Amino acid sequence: MSETAQPAKRLFIKTYGCQMNVYDSERMADVLAPLGYGMTDSPEGADLVVLNTCHIREKATEKVYSELGQIKRMKQAREADGAGMTIAVAGCVAQAEGEEIMRRQPAVDLVVGPQAYHQLPELIARAHRARGERLAADFAADEKFDALPTTRRPDGVTAFLTVQEGCDKFCTFCVVPYTRGAEWSRPAETIEAEARGLAEQGVREVTLLGQNVNSYAGEGGLAGLVRRLAKIPGLDRIRYTTSHPRDMDDALIAAHGEVDELMPYLHLPVQAGSDKILKAMNRAHTAESYLRLIERIRAARPDIAISGDFIVGFPGERDADFEATLQLVREVGYASAFSFKYSRRPGTPASAMPGQVAEEVKDERLARLQALLIEQQRAFNASQTGKVLPVLFEKKGRHTGQLIGRSPYLQSVHVSAPDRLLGQIVTVKIEDAAQNSLAGVLALETA
Ligand code: 5AD
Ligand code: SF4
Repeated sequence: MSETAQPAKRLFIKTYGCQMNVYDSERMADVLAPLGYGMTDSPEGADLVVLNTCHIREKATEKVYSELGQIKRMKQAREADGAGMTIAVAGCVAQAEGEEIMRRQPAVDLVVGPQAYHQLPELIARAHRARGERLAADFAADEKFDALPTTRRPDGVTAFLTVQEGCDKFCTFCVVPYTRGAEWSRPAETIEAEARGLAEQGVREVTLLGQNVNSYAGEGGLAGLVRRLAKIPGLDRIRYTTSHPRDMDDALIAAHGEVDELMPYLHLPVQAGSDKILKAMNRAHTAESYLRLIERIRAARPDIAISGDFIVGFPGERDADFEATLQLVREVGYASAFSFKYSRRPGTPASAMPGQVAEEVKDERLARLQALLIEQQRAFNASQTGKVLPVLFEKKGRHTGQLIGRSPYLQSVHVSAPDRLLGQIVTVKIEDAAQNSLAGVLALETA
């Protein structure tokens, strides 16, 4: 056996966008670890910089190009010192814009789409040899998961776990069906194996990920998968995101009432409250059918926290349409939400629709919607004061002697508690609530 130890190489990964990208970044680190790459937390001095990008709105895409400009200067500084830096662009901008990225920023060495991360070692080697062939952005999700290492080193007691990728819904504003391809589900056995591996390493909560996670088409559907994973010893909490109202079936709703491990929190984007706009968005639901769905979910699990996504200023949105969105929000009562101004994405049907809304109008609508959503979030948080909730402690707080955990409803909870409770689920009496977190004191310790 050769004794020449591989010199340690430094890898910096910056992740933009959704939780799927966070998961993918971890997996990229896993593929690169055997090649001697260890993580570093700054691009300066890194041998390999990966930007794992998001294409969902224009702002996200533009951030990538401005970051690349800065990294290029770091690369030049390193080259002046006789060292090198490989710059890779991964994620959805890579998928959508491909070689154009290298035209706009020639310092980029390789571009790799979300389904080709298992090819990273080979692509990097190729980029080193000849900085010419730099593209791998095709769709073959099954190959990706087969080829990625099966062992993961989780950092902490919570982990993401991808169970489904892609989207066939083609909402008219959205790039995901183009950047992530068709809906594809991993087999339940491999998901279970990954979850068991995580639980054996101390993970107590998994969040099942998919662009359309509740369309999961493996054995038993998402409800079956949740029930299967709930049996894994040590895995006490299960969450899933992001769901489409259309795929919220009876079995999944029933699971919310019956499976203790399934946390009472559901991210169920509605996007808008006007049926005219929902139709133009190709959402395949109405405001009314969404409200009835929420009713059925609440009948199964009355305390469930509902979260959502909203877009204001979709083409053709008039004042009355926007008012319908506010009305729907009032009827649902959200625990948390994300809201965005419509962003015109090249190649999507909505980008060519008439009636594009002026920026000032979007700004004004967004401000009004966010004021209402924030008010609801505060009210939801405030409604927890006085309650005793099980909190999973995930990390140390900023102050000594403080731990931060999550309530079943995904709220951050700050508590004075000894470090030995990290990774434990502990009952906490909630004493105070703010917009983004709760504060409480230890009630009863549980195992
Ligand atoms: N403009 C604004 N928001 C968008 N989203 C997706 N595409 C766009 C777009 N073109 C939002 C949707 C989606 C969330 C992830 O991002 O609300 O649910
Ligand atoms: Fe985009 Fe609609 Fe698919 Fe969600 S369901 S990823 S918004 S196309």
